[in-house]
Amino acid sequence: MKGIVLAAGSGTRLYPSTIAVTKQLLPVYDKPMVYYPISVLMLAGIKDILIITTPDDAENFNKLLGNGSHFGVNFSYKIQNAPNGIAEALILGEDFIQNEPCALILGDNIFYGPGFTGLLKEATKNANEGHATIFAHQVKNPERFGIVEFDKHNNAKSIEEKPIRPKTNFAVTGLYFYDKNASKYAKTLTPSKRGELEITDLNNVYLKKNILKVETLGRGFTWLDTGLPKALLDAGAYIRTIEENQGIKIACLEEVALRKGFLNKTQLNKILKDYPDNDYYNYAKEIVNSWQN
Ligand code: DAU
Repeated sequence: MKGIVLAAGSGTRLYPSTIAVTKQLLPVYDKPMVYYPISVLMLAGIKDILIITTPDDAENFNKLLGNGSHFGVNFSYKIQNAPNGIAEALILGEDFIQNEPCALILGDNIFYGPGFTGLLKEATKNANEGHATIFAHQVKNPERFGIVEFDKHNNAKSIEEKPIRPKTNFAVTGLYFYDKNASKYAKTLTPSKRGELEITDLNNVYLKKNILKVETLGRGFTWLDTGLPKALLDAGAYIRTIEENQGIKIACLEEVALRKGFLNKTQLNKILKDYPDNDYYNYAKEIVNSWQN
């Protein structure tokens, strides 16, 4: 199973904050935004991860993430020259995917909620068995998203991208699990009216073939948008509230690496001793030190 983080895009809704630094490298409270989607792929057990960036931002991503060995994963990089659509990620990633199942996540999506690891496990199993899985979550402003309609058995009936008259309030989130054919199908797509290879069109290929599962994330689940200044601030405040109340960290990649067995206690201790004492790294060091397995 391969993983792709799509972290290109222009981020103009956050200008001027994103003129010099891309959105996915901005902090969401105590860590860069891209840590959150990377943690999702790692939680799904994925070690081979392709990071897709704009030409301008590749160097900064490399500076932050390197080859991934300090998280026990392998990062590779690819450039998307222009925002030609989310589905282009699967074409750009074709050589990387090598006909394996693949999970794609948008670099600005934050997921947090009960039972998530179980859902990721199920989606991985589905992908290995030739199905795609996408996740839907209720939103207030459905006209801004890909929207899924269900039949009376709760199976997906239609998916529409940014419909003027949305049939439901269930938005398709930016996390997609596909079987080994995703690149092949993505290459059959044509650009939409807005000139993009739409991920909704790819999902509709799977829907038409009757091999698409739509998992609904319940009310207790949080899926955060970070596209506007207010949303970014709200996301940071949300992460801070959870982390301070519970004394845990969301998307601490060293912790995820430890819990998933990607790195052991000795390896992480060695890695972490080079980092400064601050809230993030002190947490990671404490988790690693108290690890019993
Ligand atoms: O966030 C979920 C929604 O994401 C889905 O409900 C929609 O079906 C899907 O089309 C997408 O809608 P958005 O309008 O949010 O897509 P946006 O163009 O804002 O891109 C989402 C992220 O992906 C953003 O951080 C930029 C990045 N991106 C986007 C495109 C089109 C790229 O890196 N490359 C691209 O070519």
